[in-house]
Amino acid sequence: MHANIVVLPGDGIGPEVTAAAVAVLRAVAARYGHDFDFSEHLIGGAAIDATGSALPDATLAAARSADAILLGAVGGPKWSDPGAKVRPEQGLLAIRKALGLYANLRPVKPHAATLGASPIKPHLLQGVDLIVVRELTGGIYFGDKARSDGDASDVCRYSVAEIERVVRHAARLARARSGRLTSVDKANVLETSRLWREVATRVVGEEFPDVQLEHQLVDSMAMHLLARPRSFDVIVTENMFGDILTDEASMLAGSLGLLPSASLGEGSCGIFEPIHGSAPDITGKGIANPYAAILSAAMLLRHALGLEGEAQCVELAVSRALEGGALTADLTCDRARAVGTRAVTSTVLEQLELPCHVMELRD
Ligand code: NAD
Ligand code: IPM
Ligand code: MN
Repeated sequence: MHANIVVLPGDGIGPEVTAAAVAVLRAVAARYGHDFDFSEHLIGGAAIDATGSALPDATLAAARSADAILLGAVGGPKWSDPGAKVRPEQGLLAIRKALGLYANLRPVKPHAATLGASPIKPHLLQGVDLIVVRELTGGIYFGDKARSDGDASDVCRYSVAEIERVVRHAARLARARSGRLTSVDKANVLETSRLWREVATRVVGEEFPDVQLEHQLVDSMAMHLLARPRSFDVIVTENMFGDILTDEASMLAGSLGLLPSASLGEGSCGIFEPIHGSAPDITGKGIANPYAAILSAAMLLRHALGLEGEAQCVELAVSRALEGGALTADLTCDRARAVGTRAVTSTVLEQLELPCHVMELRD
């Protein structure tokens, strides 16, 4: 198949990990006879430096005509002055909103080879396989913001339609998995959460009678996620709760550098990016963990291009690389054994050369 893939490396380790993901996508194209065109564009701090805007018009235009978008990360100390008029993170929020990507899928599936990297006891991690569906274009991120002397506010609002569509997305996913859906809110305090709970109960009750819905308050959910992670399957929640809970959930897998994401809307085009940020503390050292970016490329193959078999082959190559001991510094306490971004990428590319027998692949 032919696909036009827009690459937005961004800032910090963004370019380092997207280079790994692009190398993997090129290898997939060569091996399975696809024709992927890559075009790089500016976003975040790099875009501010070059154009003054965190999301230049040319980037948004390219994104609108793409089949899929691969993103690294944005932000960093250079652009973090509290008084700054324009910030890298605004570029990311603006592109998500402009493309209508309201459902952010963040799967968490600890791998046997990295159980030791997690601070959680291994017996609690066996069999964990959950996915957080984070609402991505509403809530406190997008409400009115105000600042005056001695006062600041961020408005949190949600409409019924915004809640309905993301709950439907999560319920469809739950139906295709174990049929269990956990909705997370703060209905004991927030009006938006009371609306969220009402809408989730109605949508699932009326449209998904086969899906078993439970509600959890976000504070105790943060605890349950670590105490009994195996008991969750699909989790749906609002924008900021989903942001925080998934960085926490990355510790089940062992590192922030392992969790990929897919941001989807009504069409097939989406943004595929690691959940981590630009990691200024390790930028330029060649030690960034590229697995989250590579697994985001697998999600791109699956969700944007419909190439399920190829996606599974990339996931298999990642599993084999991890099992073979290709671990970056964040995944092992044994510093002498840790390898860098490039070495991990080469190992994944070698694994991709090996036979890959998955159900959906016609090769
Ligand atoms: P971060 O995710 O960048 O880093 C947190 C910690 O995790 C750091 O110690 C970092 O070294 C480590 N880490 C993250 N990714 C890693 C990887 N792939 N390999 C190895 N270690 C990794 O979060 P932060 O430090 O709070 O934020 C830094 C900047 O990134 C901020 O400007 C923030 O706004 C931005 N950010 C961007 C995104 C995004 O673009 N999607 C996401 C989160 C944060
Ligand atoms: C993420 C990031 C972003 C978010 C920031 C950088 C705007 O933390 O993708 O998880 O909060 O959505
Ligand atoms: Mn985040």
